[in-house]
Amino acid sequence: MEIKNVSVIGAGTMGSGIATVSLISGYDVNLIDISMEFLEKAKSNIEKNLQKSVSKGVITEEAYSNALNRLQLTTDYSVVKDSQLVIEAIVENLDIKKKLFTQLSEHAVEDAIIASNTSALKITDIANLYKNPENVIGMHFFNPPVIMKLVELIKTELTSEKVFDLSKEFILTLKKEPVEVKESPGFVVNRILVPMINEAAMIYEEGVASAEDIDKAMKLGANHPIGPLALADMIGIDVCLAIMETLQRDFNSDKYTPAKILNQMVEEGNLGKKSGKGFYDYSRPKVNA
Ligand code: NAI
Repeated sequence: MEIKNVSVIGAGTMGSGIATVSLISGYDVNLIDISMEFLEKAKSNIEKNLQKSVSKGVITEEAYSNALNRLQLTTDYSVVKDSQLVIEAIVENLDIKKKLFTQLSEHAVEDAIIASNTSALKITDIANLYKNPENVIGMHFFNPPVIMKLVELIKTELTSEKVFDLSKEFILTLKKEPVEVKESPGFVVNRILVPMINEAAMIYEEGVASAEDIDKAMKLGANHPIGPLALADMIGIDVCLAIMETLQRDFNSDKYTPAKILNQMVEEGNLGKKSGKGFYDYSRPKVNA
């Protein structure tokens, strides 16, 4: 099977980025969300990212218009019938993802690869709702997908070798680096990274240091390119909270108890960059973190 057409479901931070990299690499892309308003917003992000690729000389002006012509925006799941690969990047909520996988069983063709971009949820729980669980794999991109080189490929006990190999080939065509990971909560990166972000949030909550100083400390003291709180804002506070909740539930360990402030920020709608406010205020011109 040759992958030519990719359906990306969920047109938020990750879905729009995954759609962009797939377009740059020559795939036809169906981008699917629950409302045209979200899709139009995603389209303008995709246009901006493609324009940046033109300015950096990654693609030509002609390739830019060509890429946009290969993009279809829709709220209709039935378009996945044309795809050899379906990448799910909807909200990090197990029940909503389970519902989607049940619906996908109706629309996807028999040998289509069904990939989930979940940050930490158990892929098997979702795969079991799909008609061919051996076709389901975790394909975990990093934020922002246009820039970040890594993709974790998560094999469940049911994922077939063929699906793994085709997924790996696909990732390489995007000029990204895959790593193979056995199914386990948080996979590799988020199991290490998000508890660190959570600890930084607790330090902030306790008033030990300001957000700016926590980030400065980790940048200059641990040589991190970005501070943990600025990174939390970039990932999304709701996503960080969901990952901690998954780690806490799946390992059944208090070690992963989410910082109270993460719950509070989500309740207040302060989700980070995407909502305009998180640990930093993005309505101000520049965040120095
Ligand atoms: P987001 O909140 O920016 O976007 C989610 C999108 O999914 C929204 O546009 C929403 O309307 C749409 N959606 C919700 N239910 C839907 C449904 N049933 N059908 C179609 N569309 C639906 O979320 P984000 O950050 O893009 O995350 C998406 C997934 O990627 C999550 O599983 C998250 O854990 C994962 N992820 C997030 C990363 C991050 O840094 N934000 C990094 C890597 C993975």
